[in-house]
Amino acid sequence: MKIDFANLQYQHELYKDEIEQALLSVARKCNFIMGEEIVQLEESLQNFTGSKHAISCSSGTDALLLAMMALDIKPGDEIITTPFTFIATAETIAFLGAIPVFVDIDEITYNIDPAKIEEKITPKTKAIIPVSLYGQPCDMDEIMLVAAKHGLKVIIDGAQSFGSTYKGKSDSNLGDISCTSFFPAKPLGCYGDGGAVFTNDDELASKIKSLRVHGQTKRYYHKYIGMGGRLDTIQAAVLNVKLKYYEKDLVLRQEVALKYDESLKNKNTISLILPVVKNDRTSAYAQYSIRVKDREILQEKLLNVGIPTAVHYPLPLHLQECFAYLGYKAGDFPISETVANEIMSLPMNPYLSDEEIDYIAENL
Ligand SMILES: Cc1ncc(COP(=O)(O)O)c(C=O)c1O
Repeated sequence: MKIDFANLQYQHELYKDEIEQALLSVARKCNFIMGEEIVQLEESLQNFTGSKHAISCSSGTDALLLAMMALDIKPGDEIITTPFTFIATAETIAFLGAIPVFVDIDEITYNIDPAKIEEKITPKTKAIIPVSLYGQPCDMDEIMLVAAKHGLKVIIDGAQSFGSTYKGKSDSNLGDISCTSFFPAKPLGCYGDGGAVFTNDDELASKIKSLRVHGQTKRYYHKYIGMGGRLDTIQAAVLNVKLKYYEKDLVLRQEVALKYDESLKNKNTISLILPVVKNDRTSAYAQYSIRVKDREILQEKLLNVGIPTAVHYPLPLHLQECFAYLGYKAGDFPISETVANEIMSLPMNPYLSDEEIDYIAENL
């Protein structure tokens, strides 16, 4: 058997007629920049998430930049986040000259541990960026409480969690600003780079809209230093089709995760730690990541029988070369470091069959 990790090809086949028609329509209209498909997408995203404003943009990375720029994050400001995430979370902080301040993760969810945030707050702290890793929202009540106590803003990095919920509310409708990514392999992916910023704040929304078009308020009049951060109309056209079926995809992802849970629970030949999603939230299951010992050997053996795996992420950000100047060292965030050594993502997509999951479980 040969398993496909994300199976984007199958998904394209599934929605091919509609997606290709939508792409062709943009090509024929030549409305490549800010076409009506963008307006339609933003309305649909607002409806889907319940967030008052959904602002599409060029990527999840740019969504984070736009969010921080809207909050006037300046050089020297400190932003608290997790070291166990994709580089973009902290890279964008540093790109703006601000300082990523890391806080270790919770051992169960692998998300930032809210109990460890307060001790890292200084007069320079401006915001907290919790990351909904693998699709699971963070402990938002606790995070919002600390933020309110210290007058901090909260920007959710929900690049992996579009469609997840926390206490019944969309992860894109929490915090002061929430960001997501439509990178092709994300739960809701487009056909290139894409992202969105969500907020319920009218002023922030209009600033973010301006920032994504070079800070202009009217053509060629620029109020802010902004960026070229628009989503292509072509990507919106793809997303408009895929968003219609997304609720169904999410259910399928959750069913795949459940099936993995059941199949792997009974395997005691090697010690596995399975993912845990807390009762008051749902995961978009961007990844189904387990913890194993001797990961590299296992990965190779699995690949030999047609099962691709991935590591999200092998080196926590405080130990990355690009952040050496921050002065962290090994041992500073022991949970992140242990999990980074053991974590391994199994194939995850809505179309994994029971037979495929059984095959993966057997081989594990
Ligand atoms: C946690 C996290 N943050 C940010 C990003 C950046 O998103 P994009 O690739 O769309 O720029 C990603 C995507 O890989 C991510 O996983």
